[in-house]
Amino acid sequence: MAIDLLGIFWILIGCYSADPNGPLYHKGWYHLFYQHNPDSAIWGNITWGHAVSKDLIHWLYLPFAMVPDQWYDINGVWTGSATILPDGQIMMLYTGDTDDYVQVQNLAYPANLSDPLLLDWVKYKGNPVLVPPPGIGVKDFRDPTTAWTGPQNGQWLLTIGSKIGKTGIALVYETSNFTSFKLLDEVLHAVPGTGMWECVDFYPVSTEKTNGLDTSYNGPGVKHVLKASLDDNKQDHYAIGTYDLVKNKWTPDNPELDCGIGLRLDYGKYYASKTFYDPKKQRRVLWGWIGETDSESADLQKGWASVQSIPRTVLYDKKTGTHLLQWPVEEIESLRAGDPIVKQVNLQPGSIELLHVDSAAELDIEASFEVDKVALQGIIEADHVGFSCSTSGGAASRGILGPFGVVVIADQTLSELTPVYFYISKGADGRAETHFCADQTRSSKAPGVAKQVYGSSVPVLDGEKHSMRLLVDHSIVESFAQGGRTVITSRIYPTKAVNGAARLFVFNNATGASVTASVKIWSLESANIRSFPLQDL
Ligand SMILES: *[C@@H]1O[C@H](CO)[C@@H](O)[C@H](O)[C@H]1NC(C)=O
Ligand SMILES: *[C@@H]1O[C@H](CO)[C@@H](O)[C@H](O)[C@H]1NC(C)=O
Ligand SMILES: *[C@@H]1O[C@H](CO)[C@@H](O)[C@H](O)[C@H]1NC(C)=O
Ligand SMILES: *[C@@H]1O[C@H](CO)[C@@H](O)[C@H](O)[C@H]1NC(C)=O
Repeated sequence: MAIDLLGIFWILIGCYSADPNGPLYHKGWYHLFYQHNPDSAIWGNITWGHAVSKDLIHWLYLPFAMVPDQWYDINGVWTGSATILPDGQIMMLYTGDTDDYVQVQNLAYPANLSDPLLLDWVKYKGNPVLVPPPGIGVKDFRDPTTAWTGPQNGQWLLTIGSKIGKTGIALVYETSNFTSFKLLDEVLHAVPGTGMWECVDFYPVSTEKTNGLDTSYNGPGVKHVLKASLDDNKQDHYAIGTYDLVKNKWTPDNPELDCGIGLRLDYGKYYASKTFYDPKKQRRVLWGWIGETDSESADLQKGWASVQSIPRTVLYDKKTGTHLLQWPVEEIESLRAGDPIVKQVNLQPGSIELLHVDSAAELDIEASFEVDKVALQGIIEADHVGFSCSTSGGAASRGILGPFGVVVIADQTLSELTPVYFYISKGADGRAETHFCADQTRSSKAPGVAKQVYGSSVPVLDGEKHSMRLLVDHSIVESFAQGGRTVITSRIYPTKAVNGAARLFVFNNATGASVTASVKIWSLESANIRSFPLQDL
C-alpha cells in the first residue's frame, strides 16, 4: 500500500493532475492552472484545474477554469501559457484536442480582469486560432508558450513544440492580437533525434544580476534558456544559448549540450515544467509535474495521482556558465518550525549515523560534506572507472570516494531507505568528477513500484564543499546539489518509514576517505490547502 499523505505540500484534490498551465501573478494572487481529470486517477477528459496563493505555499482551490465543452477542445483542454499585455489584459493560449483528434491552439481570456481570483474564463468565439500547418502532423502540434515582444512595434512572437521525423522542433508564430497568427519560415531551433517536443519553455536569464527577467526582456547581459519536454522519454531538457531577436534564431552556447541531448532540469520524476515571471519579487519561478512511479491500478485504488513540485526560482549560474540554478522559493522557509538541529559528524569509511529527529517525514535539510584531500588526490591517480548513478549499483556499491550523503525516509532498522548522495570518480578528462544520485531501489517494500537510481554529474568548483539541500515530504523528496546545479525529484512509496517512524541518517560508504558532514535540519509544518468558497478571504 502506498502512502497517500503529503503533509507539507499539496495533492491537487481528487483524481489525476499533471502539467502546470498558465502560471501568472494577478492583483496580489499567484495563479496556477493544471491538467486535471476530475473523473478518474488516470489521464483523460482533461480539464483546467485552478488554484491561487498569496505566497506560493498556502493554496486555495478554485472552480475549474475551463472544461472540455467545445468541438475544438472536446477531447481535452490541454497545456497552455499566459501572456500579460502591457495594458494588463491576459491572453491564455492553450491546445485543444478536437472532436477529430486534431491538435489546435485556442485563445481564452478572463471575463472580468477586475476579479483578483479570475474565476470566469471566456473561450474566444473565433477558436481555434491556429491549426497544424502543412507538413506538421495533426497530433504533433501542442503547448504554446508565453509570448515575447518581437522586433516590430506591437508584434508578439511565441513558440509551439512539434517534430519533423525524429527531429524535435520549436515553431515560431507572430501575432499582434492573439487571434490571427503568421508562421515564420524558420524554426526557433531543431535538434535531430530528440522526437516530439512538448511544453517548450523559452525565457531570458541574466548573466549579471541575481533577479529573474520578464519573458520579453532582451539585450546585453542576457542569455536565453530553451526547454523541451521530450515526449519519447518523458524528460525535461534544457540548454542555455543566445537568441537573435531579428533573425529569430536561438543558438546553444555548447552544441554538445544542445536541448534534448545535454542537461536535464531534473534527473528524477519530473516533467512538463513551465516557468513564469513573478513581477512581485522580480524572479522567474518554475513549476513541474511529479508523476507516479507505481502502477495505474495502484493509482486507481488510492484514488489520485500526481502532484506539483514545490516552485523553484531559476537563475543562470554565473560560476559555471553552463548550468541553471534551481532553488526552492524562499517562502518555503516560512514552514520551518523553530530553530534547526545543527550537527557536525565525522564519518569514517563504511559508517552510518542516525540524526535524531522526532519525525523525519517533513524536513528541510541543508548538508555539506568535506572530503579528505589526500583521498581526493588518490582518485585522480587511480585507473579510470566509469561511473553513472543509474548503472553503477546505488548506495550499496562502494568506491574509493563514494557514496556519501544522507538517507531519508528510512525506518530505524533501514529496511526501507532512500539514500541521496555524492560519488566522486575519475572523469574522462582525468579529473575528479562528482555525481549526485538518489537511490530508490530500497525505498519501498510495496510491490510494483519502480526501483531506479536517478542522478547525473554536478560541477563542484575549486574551494566549494559538496553541498545539498533536500525537501522531504513523506513520499516526495526534492534534492538540490551545489546550489541547484543538479536536481533530482524522487517519488517514493514507503510502507514502514512513515510518519513518526521515519528517520534521517548521514552515511559514508566510501572505502578510501573519511568525510565530515555539517547538517542543519528543520522540521516543516504543513501548508494550508483550502477549497473555495471561503468566508475569510
Ligand atoms: C468531463 O469532465 C467534465 C467536468 O470537467 C464533466 O462535466 C463531464 O461529464 C466529463 N465528461 C466525461 C465524458 O467524463
Ligand atoms: C468584476 O470583479 C469585481 C471584483 O471582484 C467585482 O466587483 C465586479 O462586480 C465584477 N464585475 C462583473 C461584471 O462581474
Ligand atoms: C488581428 O490582426 C490581424 C492582422 O493584423 C487582422 O487581420 C485581424 O482582423 C485582427 N483580428 C481582430 C479580431 O482584431
Ligand atoms: C553501504 O554499503 C553496504 C555494503 O554494500 C550496504 O549494505 C549499505 O546498505 C550501504 N549503505 C547505504 C546507506 O546504502
